[in-house]
Amino acid sequence: MTNSFRTLDDVNVSGKRVLVRVDLNVPMDNGRITDATRLERIAPTVTEISGKGGKVILLAHFGRPKGVDPKLSLKPVAAALAGVIGKPVAFADDCIGDVATKAVAAMQDGDILCLENTRFHPGEEKNDPAFVAELAELGDIWVNDAFSAAHRAHATTEGLGHKLPAFAGRTMQAELDALGKALDAPTRPVIAIVGGAKVSSKIDLLENLVTKVDALVIGGGMANTFLHAQGIGVGKSLCEKDLAATALRIIDKAEAAGCAIILPVDAVVAFHFAANAPSQAYGLDAIPADGMILDVGPQSIVRINAAIDDAATLVWNGPLGAFEMTPFDTGTVSAAKHAAARTKARKLISVAGGGDTVAALNHAGVADDFSYISTAGGAFLEWMEGKPLPGVDVLRAAAKG
Ligand code: 3PG
Ligand code: MG
Repeated sequence: MTNSFRTLDDVNVSGKRVLVRVDLNVPMDNGRITDATRLERIAPTVTEISGKGGKVILLAHFGRPKGVDPKLSLKPVAAALAGVIGKPVAFADDCIGDVATKAVAAMQDGDILCLENTRFHPGEEKNDPAFVAELAELGDIWVNDAFSAAHRAHATTEGLGHKLPAFAGRTMQAELDALGKALDAPTRPVIAIVGGAKVSSKIDLLENLVTKVDALVIGGGMANTFLHAQGIGVGKSLCEKDLAATALRIIDKAEAAGCAIILPVDAVVAFHFAANAPSQAYGLDAIPADGMILDVGPQSIVRINAAIDDAATLVWNGPLGAFEMTPFDTGTVSAAKHAAARTKARKLISVAGGGDTVAALNHAGVADDFSYISTAGGAFLEWMEGKPLPGVDVLRAAAKG
């Protein structure tokens, strides 16, 4: 997989104007960045191109503006990036036109410039050829380092790859390498853990996974739908009863594909949805009619951890319970710690991604011990669904020439 596109090893960036698509879509609260992981991830690419004497011109979106919106300016993010990489990052108030052209013309080799939010122009999301052409005027080559935006076929994530020589940045490269090892050409057996609240948001993902992995653990609220579909009473638990037939179809598909489905065998039940609500573990034949399943039970944890022991590769998306509230984080934390220990012992390749998943692994204190944690949300899910990612496909097409 890694060899099917060109990287920074395949281009001399010295003296070149390098348009680098990065993901600066960091979480912000009252003007403060609450998680700088995405900035840390792009630092190697920015530093390398700058260090080799390339002119680094950063292209990125921020939020989902409809037209120009000062609240969604990238200016504060560019300032924070400068802090992370320890080098000045200049800023231009527009990503095309006179403002951008002059800012680029003023750059010296090795300089770093961040252009304003590309989504301030409707041409970005429309992948409008005229907008792509204006952007392309600013650079000699295009480097895509934004895997987490690669599910978007936008001007800066895809369009530019048809206009300029295209290369993967270091983060894109690492991400594709890790993901390739997890699902495309994995060391078997492969286990997937999929949790989260709703089956409805993960039908495509489950249908794809059962054809690719050897075992699939289903946890979180979505497991209730599968239990209900099998005739188990789930009381007042979150459950998408109208998806019972879908759940059964996925179970059948798994069976046909030789994928073992691992559902909870017991459950932690509370009577109201709150941290530290009184709770108890029940067998599946005894879930109280007025109870809510908020976590997998102790027998399920033993089963899941044993299944992790049997695997050589793990792909994880979604928590196993209501992990934001103690003690309903127990299942997620236990499985996460177990997977981390197996990874540290070199028995397991572990890859995780998706918004809540990273938060859950951070909460378990094991994010650093996984083989790879993706910062991608939607793009990670679409990858797990087996869907083409336009921002990756364009890199492959460019390498074929
Ligand atoms: C993300 O935050 O997941 C990416 O930056 C993509 O953002 P989007 O969902 O607004 O396209
Ligand atoms: Mg998103």
